[in-house]
Amino acid sequence: MPATILITGGAGFIGSNFVPYFAKKYPQYRIINLDKLTYAGNSDNLKECATLENYSFVQGDICDARFVEDLFQKYDVRGVIHFAAESHVDNSISGPRAFIETNIVGTFNLLEAARKNWMTAPGQTREGYENARFHHISTDEVYGSLGANGYFKETTPYAPNSPYSASKASSDFLVRAYFHTFGLNVTTSNCSNNYGPKQHPEKLIPKIIDHCLNEKPIPIYGDGKNVRDWLFVLDHCKAIDLIFHNGKAGETYNVGGHNEKNNLEIVNTICAILDEKRPRKSGKYDDLITFVKDRAGHDKRYAIDATKLSTELKWKAEETFASGIVKTVNWYLENK
Ligand SMILES: NC(=O)c1ccc[n+]([C@@H]2O[C@H](COP(=O)([O-])OP(=O)(O)OC[C@H]3O[C@@H](n4cnc5c(N)ncnc54)[C@H](O)[C@@H]3O)[C@@H](O)[C@H]2O)c1
Repeated sequence: MPATILITGGAGFIGSNFVPYFAKKYPQYRIINLDKLTYAGNSDNLKECATLENYSFVQGDICDARFVEDLFQKYDVRGVIHFAAESHVDNSISGPRAFIETNIVGTFNLLEAARKNWMTAPGQTREGYENARFHHISTDEVYGSLGANGYFKETTPYAPNSPYSASKASSDFLVRAYFHTFGLNVTTSNCSNNYGPKQHPEKLIPKIIDHCLNEKPIPIYGDGKNVRDWLFVLDHCKAIDLIFHNGKAGETYNVGGHNEKNNLEIVNTICAILDEKRPRKSGKYDDLITFVKDRAGHDKRYAIDATKLSTELKWKAEETFASGIVKTVNWYLENK
C-alpha cells in the first residue's frame, strides 16, 4: 500500500502550489490534504488536482485533537507536511487568538498524533514507521528584525515581534522539543516572503495588482522602505520537498533567494509591468500609490542566509525576481 502523506493547509497560497507539484512528482504517495477552508483557503486553487488518483481533500480543523488523531488512524499517516496556519500579520494585530489556537495548539495536536502513532516510547519508533517524518513550515519572521546589514542564519536567536511571529516561534519550539524529548523525526524550514500565483489578495503583491486593476489607491505602509527577501513560491516548494526527503532529523533550514526588495521597489516594478501589459486610460499606475500609517511594530528588514540548504542539500532558487514577478502578474491577469 502506498505511504500516506498528510499535508495541512494545502488550500492556502503555498500549500496549493505545493500539493499539485508534490502529488504529480510522487504518484507512489497517497496525499491527504487537510484544510479547514478558512477565509484564506480556496478550493479553486486545487482544481488541477481533481484528476489525480493519489490525491484527496479532507475539510477539518487541526485544533480538533480527536479529529486529527482519527485521521492519522484512518489513513495510517506516515508523513506530515504542515503548512496550515493563520498567516497574516495584520490579522494577528487585530485578532491574535486564532493565531495562538491554530499555530500553537494546532501544531501541538499534529505532533501528538504523530508521536502516538509513530512512537512506542521516547526514543523508540514503532516498527515500520522508521521513515515517518514531520516537516514543519515556518517563517523567517521568528528571528525578528535586521538593521541595514546581516542575515538570518539557523543559529540566529529567536526574537519574534508580532503575535503571528510569536505563535510561529512557539510552534517551532514545540517541534524542536518533540525531537529532543521523544526522538520524533522532525525537520523545520524557515522561509522568507513568498510570492507567486494563488496568493490571497490581503497580501502585498496580489493587493497591489488588484488595486491597480480596479483603479483603487495602493496603500503602502510608512515610508515604503521596509525590506523583505522575496522568493518565488515554487522555489520554496522544491526546498520543502528536498528537506522532507533528504534533510537531517531535528535540523532547521533557512530558505531564501537573496532577493531583497523594499516595498516601494515592489510596487514600482509591478506598476511598470502593468503600464506595459494593460495601460491605464490616463496616467500611470504609480499615480495610485498612497502612503498610509505604518503597521504597529513593523519589522524593518528580513534577509535570509540559505547557505546550509544550498551546501548540504544542493538547493538553489531557480527563479529570479525579474522573471518570477512577470509570471506572477501574468497569472493574476489571466485568473482574476
Ligand atoms: N506566505 C509567505 O510568504 C510565508 C513565508 C514563510 C512561511 N510561511 C508559512 O507557510 C505556511 C503557509 O503559508 P500561506 O501563505 O500559504 O498561508 P495561507 O494563509 O495562504 O494558507 C493557510 C491555509 O491553512 C488553512 N488553515 C488555517 N487554519 C486552519 C486550521 N485550524 N485547520 C486546518 N487548516 C487551517 C487555511 O484554510 C489556508 O488554506 C504558514 O505556516 C506560514 O506561516 C508563509
